[in-house]
Amino acid sequence: MPMIRETIVTTASHDGRVHIAPLGLIADGAKWIIAPFSPSTTLDNLRAVPFAVASHTDDVRVFAGCLIGRHDWPTVPSNHVPVPRLAGALAHEELAVVRVTEDAQRPRFHCRVVHRCSHAAFAGFNRAQAAVIEAAILVSRLHMLPAEKIDSEMRYLAIAIEKTAGPHEREAWSWLVERIEQFRSGKRETA
Ligand SMILES: Cc1cc2nc3c(=O)[nH]c(=O)nc-3n(C[C@H](O)[C@H](O)[C@H](O)COP(=O)(O)O)c2cc1C
Repeated sequence: MPMIRETIVTTASHDGRVHIAPLGLIADGAKWIIAPFSPSTTLDNLRAVPFAVASHTDDVRVFAGCLIGRHDWPTVPSNHVPVPRLAGALAHEELAVVRVTEDAQRPRFHCRVVHRCSHAAFAGFNRAQAAVIEAAILVSRLHMLPAEKIDSEMRYLAIAIEKTAGPHEREAWSWLVERIEQFRSGKRETA
């Protein structure tokens, strides 16, 4: 399996509306592959404007926030592509789509790195940040995963939150826990 780097991907629609979403970029030599599921705004945007920016951030609120509908994170213009980057990125990579492998469920956009730039120092690993990213992935699959699996994984991930989280990680975690509760109460109401 190739290496996957979890990052924040910005894309833009043909009329310039910016979309921010967490996505896993798949390593492909010196290139990255973006593989958005259909339907999604990221997929529509990549077809309309074949550029993207991967913003690498340790603010895991952006990962959790996008999953619960908070997409309005500050952005600033990029250097070489018509898509902005996350203002708070530690580093970013500007990407141009060079080829698309079509697939009805999950097409793959092969991207060349046009420009990369660092903005701030990497502050070291934090277990709670990894736990929030794992929990965000669970939340993105709530409709597919059994409740028991979600509960057992969240119980395990909560250990890292309790032991190592700072304020940003706690806030992000609380959004995800609330989202799981909302999802379940919505299901109970429609049952
Ligand atoms: C860490 C992480 C990685 C993700 N990777 C992908 C991905 O590679 N492809 C995808 O379609 N969705 C991925 N998702 C889910 C998307 O972020 C989410 O479904 C998003 O809303 C995409 O749809 P949108 O472009 O309409 O916003 C990921 C979520 C997280 C938290």
